[in-house]
Amino acid sequence: MKRLLGLLLLMSASVWLAACQEDSQLPEKSVFKEDEMPQDGEPLKIGFAMDTLKEERWLKDRELFEQAIESRGLEVDIAAANGDDALQIAQAEEMIQEGIDLLVIVPHNAEATAAIVHKAHGAGIKVIAYDRLVKNAEIDLYVSFDNEKVGELQAEKMLELVPEGNYVYIGGAPTDNNAHLLKKGVFDVLQPAIERGDINIIYDEWTEDWAPEQAFAHMSQALEINGNQIDAVIAANDATAGGAIEALAQQGLAGSVPVAGQDAELAAVQRIVDGTQSMTVYKPIQQLSERVAALAVELAEGNEIEPTVSINNGKSEVPSVLLEPTAVDIGNLESTILADNFHSEEEIDGME
Ligand code: BGC
Repeated sequence: MKRLLGLLLLMSASVWLAACQEDSQLPEKSVFKEDEMPQDGEPLKIGFAMDTLKEERWLKDRELFEQAIESRGLEVDIAAANGDDALQIAQAEEMIQEGIDLLVIVPHNAEATAAIVHKAHGAGIKVIAYDRLVKNAEIDLYVSFDNEKVGELQAEKMLELVPEGNYVYIGGAPTDNNAHLLKKGVFDVLQPAIERGDINIIYDEWTEDWAPEQAFAHMSQALEINGNQIDAVIAANDATAGGAIEALAQQGLAGSVPVAGQDAELAAVQRIVDGTQSMTVYKPIQQLSERVAALAVELAEGNEIEPTVSINNGKSEVPSVLLEPTAVDIGNLESTILADNFHSEEEIDGME
């Protein structure tokens, strides 16, 4: 009996030992989270088809998006089209042919890029519109800042600084849906003051491809037509604000006419410190790139995502996520742009 008991104990001990050995032979834990596991052994590949790298912000978008994707163990293929529709379509087509798993696009032209969406969908690839909406195509997701809010913030600040007087509006590129949203936000806020006769819009023009040289020409024209009688300028971004401020400077008016922009470009922040630009709107690119990267992984994996709103793009209700912009002037520069290290104090002082 004792011998039988001993034998049983010995047997169970060796079963336990074998189990331990099996455990130690388990492969190392994967570096991917479960929902980011590549399906066929290859990491997922995201295509990032950008319009331009002309404005400073897009260099940040490129760098931060690349980091956000690579830190998740995925690959990214990036191209920029220098504002050329045909080139952007060709670049995206090449990515599709090379087998990307998902396409993220910053459209140069909101309408023309619908063609890319159709091609991608034909190949079973989902498409995310990054910062700018693609119109008239069933895109899978749109992630941006609240662009109408950007315009509202600009107009609110300018009405505070200039409750009465002559206003100039320098719009963005008419081919960019954001330019229309910004303008809507601006004019929604200005409308009551226009109706009361407190302010007059004495000049209002779009700026092809957001070109600062064209903004300069617009502003020069506005000054000429109105004999320099201009009290406030709202420009659709910091690059166009820069062009407008140069035209004001030529008339010795830089610093005496309040100007609004958006993007918190380094040059604009320096102008705010110098007093030639009154405000900008800060959009933390890090938040945008991180959010798109996280959602891109979800979509590429075929998971459901939770959009915060849906936006009609002329074709469908597009699931959308809109992030919050912040108005920045000299009063809150430190608690926003500096606190986030979007620019450092040394950069703003021009020491770097
Ligand atoms: C973006 C702005 C940018 C502009 C010009 C817009 O769609 O939202 O941040 O300044 O394009 O590139």
